[in-house]
Amino acid sequence: MVPFEKLAALLAKQPNKLVFSRPLHEDLPRNLVLQKIEKGKAPYQAVRQFEKKVFHTPVWDLVAYVREALPLWRELHVFGEEDYSALLSKGNVVSLKKLPKQSKAVAVAHNREKNRLIAEGDDLPIFVKLGIFTKEGKVVAAKQEKFRQINRYLELLMDVLKEYKPGDSLRVADYGCGKSYLSFAVYYYLTVKRGLKVDLVGVDLKEDVMEECNRLAQEYGYEGMRFVCANIRDYKPEAPIDLVISLHACDVATDYVLDGAIRQGVKHIFAAPCCQHELAKTLDGALMPMMMRHGIVRERLAALATDSLRVAVLETHDYSVDIVEFVDLADSPKNLLIRAVKHTQSVGFKQARQAEIDSLVALCGKKPTLLRLLEE
Ligand SMILES: C[S@@+](CC[C@H](N)C(=O)[O-])C[C@H]1O[C@@H](n2cnc3c(N)ncnc32)[C@H](O)[C@@H]1O
Repeated sequence: MVPFEKLAALLAKQPNKLVFSRPLHEDLPRNLVLQKIEKGKAPYQAVRQFEKKVFHTPVWDLVAYVREALPLWRELHVFGEEDYSALLSKGNVVSLKKLPKQSKAVAVAHNREKNRLIAEGDDLPIFVKLGIFTKEGKVVAAKQEKFRQINRYLELLMDVLKEYKPGDSLRVADYGCGKSYLSFAVYYYLTVKRGLKVDLVGVDLKEDVMEECNRLAQEYGYEGMRFVCANIRDYKPEAPIDLVISLHACDVATDYVLDGAIRQGVKHIFAAPCCQHELAKTLDGALMPMMMRHGIVRERLAALATDSLRVAVLETHDYSVDIVEFVDLADSPKNLLIRAVKHTQSVGFKQARQAEIDSLVALCGKKPTLLRLLEE
């Protein structure tokens, strides 16, 4: 057992971020993030993300807050000048380990941040309105992660859009766009910084949010943008789409995105999935009992199996696909991005992928959503 004072001494150094994970109760969020606020009234804020809602609460006394939260979680990560990982049990700190120095990948990511495609100071008033930039053009502390996420997504996107030259037209759909930070960023970057003619449609279930996004697009003169309230599953674009983007469309909504894009033969697909629960319910425990025993392992295995299946399905439909980590794991556990580009695959390759898909379906005992949708 580690005395609480050891942890308190780390907190006294004012770390940038703390992440509680592996909750002990079902009604808790998946994790609890305590984020340092540079110019806020309170020195920290707590961020609790439930399925569709995020709650922010000011934290005035970090040590007291952490002491109170300890009994509800199994793990705590502290990110500061040095990073630590703590195992918790019944409100006690069981172990406290210093994590190795930044990995090369993280160091590269930090360097990359200095060359962001959308940078502080860019003339982007919509980002002020959306609460990402302050009036002075600085990134709002609580939106740093979102800002990094958007920039990294943009970077990966630009890797594959090099073929487009100023004046070229591009039709984009952002599915599950929500408040549309990503849609506005992509539209701004492609039109203002790259000189393309972009027609972008954002689609989401939330009517009031889509109305507000349409109002903002009009107010800020983004003539090529419009937002539609619809279920991705039923939405039919008016004209062929060249690029589908989707950032954390919940659960099987990513399958709706892929189904539509495959059917329409969309050239580029960029989908970052989110909270896949489907296979967790159906994976057969008898085949991998040791990986099925613990809820968290089962969930992660199911999420990876779902994404692997999505990749294989795309490949059988003549796409070349990869999966990349688009943000650091410390920023978000939902950090995988499926990138697909239309590319004729050989018959033998597709047959081999199909055989893999069939064996996964046999393992699950039930066809996952994407396969069922494509058969409809
Ligand atoms: C986690 S939010 C992500 C929002 C945004 N892409 C972002 O990253 O900030 C997921 C969004 O997907 C939308 N969504 C989920 N299922 C959907 C469906 N079947 N059709 C349309 N939108 C859906 C939700 O309404 C929500 O706004």
